[in-house]
Amino acid sequence: MVGKMSELERAAERLRRARRVVAFTGAGVSAESGVPTFRGAGGLWEGRPVEEVATPQGFAADPVRVWRFYDERRCNLARCRPNPAHEVLARWQDRFPAYTLVTQNVDGLHEDAGARAVLHLHGSIWALRCTACGRERVERAAPLPELPPRCTGCGEMERPGVVWFGEYLPEEALRAASRAAAATEVLIVVGTSAVVYPAAGLVQTAAAAGAVVIEVNPEASALAHLADVELRGPAGVLLPQLDTLLTAVSA
Ligand code: APR
Repeated sequence: MVGKMSELERAAERLRRARRVVAFTGAGVSAESGVPTFRGAGGLWEGRPVEEVATPQGFAADPVRVWRFYDERRCNLARCRPNPAHEVLARWQDRFPAYTLVTQNVDGLHEDAGARAVLHLHGSIWALRCTACGRERVERAAPLPELPPRCTGCGEMERPGVVWFGEYLPEEALRAASRAAAATEVLIVVGTSAVVYPAAGLVQTAAAAGAVVIEVNPEASALAHLADVELRGPAGVLLPQLDTLLTAVSA
């Protein structure tokens, strides 16, 4: 699975010396928790018209159809638990003096693993936002009692608190993530195909600023050419191995 141990050791060697580290995750970090990824075999977008369920236009055309899609995902996610990859990335917040965890994921599994101050670039599936007054609330009920759900303030229809294609990312989260990527010594990219922008641009920002880029993914992402170290395999296996190497030396 992992080529020569040297790849893992090379990653550990670079991380051991780092004070500033950014971890950037995608759907693959949650795959071993039973959360489907988006692209590739068995992915959420496989055979599904994305524009129908993940665009403002699709929501305007048929909000119930969109809510059925998100309610189904919420019900699946409600059964999922963090895996060892989430746990390592949470633990690292106490290992590195300047650590930033940035995710494209909407599943909340990083926080369930104990991560604090996670930068969410694509929102949260547990957040509901009113389409009229803009009020946002966290609702973990799965299934939702009513589709579409109604705002507890004004009673109008709510939408999922995720970022859809064609929508802007949350400004502050993107700005903070870009700042961290431009200043980091090591960027570890875990479980993303790196095809969706502006999120994937973080990898280019970090590489252009001279950071060491480590990619953890069974397959090469679209930005694998920017990686200095490629760890080919499942994050839930490789990150604990990497953490063990790190811990071994510092003990
Ligand atoms: N460990 C690490 N990586 C994995 C694992 C695993 N166990 N299993 C799969 N992967 C990798 C795949 O090889 C793929 O490169 O995870 C990646 C998942 O890619 P996508 O499905 O494209 O997901 P992601 O990159 O997060 O998508 C970005 O696109 O659909 C939108 O808003 C959605 O946030 C999402 C964005």
